[in-house]
Amino acid sequence: MKISVIGTGYVGLVAGTCFAESGNDVICVDIDEAKVKTLREGRVPIYEPGLEELIKRNVAEGRLAFSTDLRGAVRHALVCFIAVGTPPGEDGSANLSAVHKVAEDIAKTMDGYRIVVTKSTVPVSTHISVAKVLSENTNHPFDVVSNPEFMKEGAAIEDFLKPDRVVIGAASSKAADIMKDLYAPFVRGGAPILVMDNASAEMTKYAANALLATKISFINEVANLCERVGADVNHVRQGMGLDRRLGMHFLYAGLGYGGSCFPKDVQAIIKTAEKVGLEFPLMNAVETVNNRQKRKIFEKLSEYYKGNLEGRTFGVWGLAFKPRTDDMREAPAVGLIEDLLAAGCKVAVHDPEAMEVARAIFGDRISYHRHNYDALEGADALLLVTEWNEFRRPDFDRIKRMLKAPVVFDGRNIWEPNDMAKQGFAYFPIGRPPVEKAG
Ligand SMILES: NC(=O)c1ccc[n+]([C@@H]2O[C@H](COP(=O)([O-])OP(=O)(O)OC[C@H]3O[C@@H](n4cnc5c(N)ncnc54)[C@H](O)[C@@H]3O)[C@@H](O)[C@H]2O)c1
Repeated sequence: MKISVIGTGYVGLVAGTCFAESGNDVICVDIDEAKVKTLREGRVPIYEPGLEELIKRNVAEGRLAFSTDLRGAVRHALVCFIAVGTPPGEDGSANLSAVHKVAEDIAKTMDGYRIVVTKSTVPVSTHISVAKVLSENTNHPFDVVSNPEFMKEGAAIEDFLKPDRVVIGAASSKAADIMKDLYAPFVRGGAPILVMDNASAEMTKYAANALLATKISFINEVANLCERVGADVNHVRQGMGLDRRLGMHFLYAGLGYGGSCFPKDVQAIIKTAEKVGLEFPLMNAVETVNNRQKRKIFEKLSEYYKGNLEGRTFGVWGLAFKPRTDDMREAPAVGLIEDLLAAGCKVAVHDPEAMEVARAIFGDRISYHRHNYDALEGADALLLVTEWNEFRRPDFDRIKRMLKAPVVFDGRNIWEPNDMAKQGFAYFPIGRPPVEKAG
């Protein structure tokens, strides 16, 4: 099938590449000329495991191309995916200007029937506004399909190639059948393709992310309570999560959620409710809890050093909002580092993938270290912010030798309080009994 994907970010690039991998003829379009040039030169502008090999193979075999020419891509394709960003506007509701602009551009260039698919996360009723923009700008027939994406950054290829389910919102059975055909190679393992109305498909994406965010804020609240009453959230998590009605996923206490999706989607669902005169107090609470949780390490530091932070140095391990990505959008590390700098601290950082992204945010206000241990030299404490696998089994003796004092704040609970006590560290996890004094 001939496909175009407009917007070649995380979602568009992964989706376009995976559609090419299943034998389709795909053109990925972006307005960012530098990004398209990078891709054409065989380099990948984002870090996503497995993506580079897949892009190279499909480009080499002639099924995948990158372009800034939207007109050519629309003429080429039967199915045009819109995968541009939908960032929060000033009031928190999703900004649909890029989606509508692309819909307008598609309409102005299409020369026959097209299926226009919103792959971007868009609020309920966007299918109506997209159809309106299309019909105002073309006389050719079209169908609008709502096809939300559920991939996780860091495991996006696997998620796309083997989805739990595919959601297709369509009013036309012709468009739904073409979409089912397109996704058939990805659901050979038996995952269902759910065809529903557009509004339900749009809502499904927000409801799914809202519940995942709720689980995270819930366990963080439980963790905070555990700290006050002397319980260990890790035991509580296991005791809860093994109940199949609850499940273990998304029950890890930590520094809250970040990234380009949960924060904005939580805000957007609140706004959607507001617009139809409904309060959604649960989601307001989820957001409040998360914003507070992101500041947990700074709070614990202030308490430990009795507010006396000025002039101290901290080594930070992990900057990305989660492991296996270089994405720092809404990452807890950003607020933490800003707070430390504002308090007069020096900050030395290491992340396996996100250093360049961090450099664009902090410039020379902090120091960057290619090796994780180097970020600890002469530091007052190690702050663990992102749970990359390579941090799980470090050389603790080396950490002790590098630090000024053996003090660790673990924002992701990747180490064991008992082990840390034996190693002689003062250790402060989230929702677990701390080791108050270095041994
Ligand atoms: N990142 C994720 O893990 C994820 C997962 C599921 C859904 N989503 C949703 O998918 C959408 C895209 O997210 P993303 O993370 O890929 O965003 P992104 O910011 O990484 O990429 C968006 C791309 O669209 C391009 N663009 C903007 N306007 C354009 C235009 N007029 N023509 C062509 N290209 C244009 C930008 O240059 C950019 O490369 C959002 O709605 C997001 O909520 C994201």
